[in-house]
Amino acid sequence: DALDGEAMFDALIEADGRIEPRDWMPEGYRRTLIRQISQHAHSEIIGMQPEGAWITRAPSLKRKSILLAKVQDEAGHGLYLYSAAQTLGITRDEMTQQLVDGKARYSSIFNYPTPTWADMGAIGWLVDGAAICNQVPLCRASYGPYGRAMVRICKEESFHQRQGFEILLTLMRGTDAQREMAQDAVDRWYWPSLMMFGPPDDDSPNSAQSMAWNIKRFSNDELRQRFVSMLVPQAAVLGVTLPDPELRYNDETGQYDMGEIDWTEFHEVLAGRGPLNTMRRQHRRDAHEEGAWVREAAAAYAAKKSAKAAA
Ligand code: ACO
Repeated sequence: DALDGEAMFDALIEADGRIEPRDWMPEGYRRTLIRQISQHAHSEIIGMQPEGAWITRAPSLKRKSILLAKVQDEAGHGLYLYSAAQTLGITRDEMTQQLVDGKARYSSIFNYPTPTWADMGAIGWLVDGAAICNQVPLCRASYGPYGRAMVRICKEESFHQRQGFEILLTLMRGTDAQREMAQDAVDRWYWPSLMMFGPPDDDSPNSAQSMAWNIKRFSNDELRQRFVSMLVPQAAVLGVTLPDPELRYNDETGQYDMGEIDWTEFHEVLAGRGPLNTMRRQHRRDAHEEGAWVREAAAAYAAKKSAKAAA
């Protein structure tokens, strides 16, 4: 019964064990996971748009096939994560509806435009780099289906990060115009990539409980700090400047001091008023509506097959 279930749940969390779909779990734990996993899935699906826009314009056949594979990986991540969320008792249809109705969140980062090819490099290096920092600890999330999904996702994210770095490296070894294009993309993506980690710890309503449940393993600020420490030496190899004049290593703390993040911009994007929120959402809604006939045909085919099998 629920009492035994609760004791078992508490003991499993205490022992850093795994909770599986059929185990008893507190309603709050279930709700938190549905919230985080569905937001994460939506981010992967919406995240296909900024890069999808460059598939037809990639500068070579090789670049095009790499980009195509990467965008397909993101679709795969979204589907994995929707499946993980479904084990908690929400349907894919419900989640999709929340997204197209504008009721579900997805990562702030995907509301920014990608005007140049260098943006493909900056997204891989900065956005996927931030995603790895945030997601490697999620491989140890207490909920089994989420943690296991993250393992493969993180391997693919590492490849995405490398390919972005390599795009920027190629541009930085190119002409003046290519170097300027790479620096401009880094200037535009640096601060939004820091915002991916979420609000500062003293303004993060979900962190304490999610950490107590072993869903989150590190705080938003800890992971942001770790990310910046990873970027600094890589920026030096690339020869790009990180656009924060206050960024410097602090010998006493052993960490990087940073300039203030523009939290007004972050909250504006979360409120739906970022550069491209409306377009991203509309695009997803159109794709969903235009794909209705495919879903109907697949369902009709499945019904016909199961009727035949039963006969
Ligand atoms: N973009 C949009 N919303 C955000 C962001 C962001 N960058 N950061 C925080 N928020 C939202 C939270 O979802 C939460 O909203 P809600 O309560 O309405 O759900 C609110 O801001 C307050 O933030 P926190 O209390 O810090 O929320 P939480 O504990 O969920 O931490 C975090 C946020 C770190 C993003 C966490 O949910 C997480 O690790 N998610 C999984 C990773 C993920 O979703 N990555 C997506 C981008 S990476 C990629 O897809 C390539």
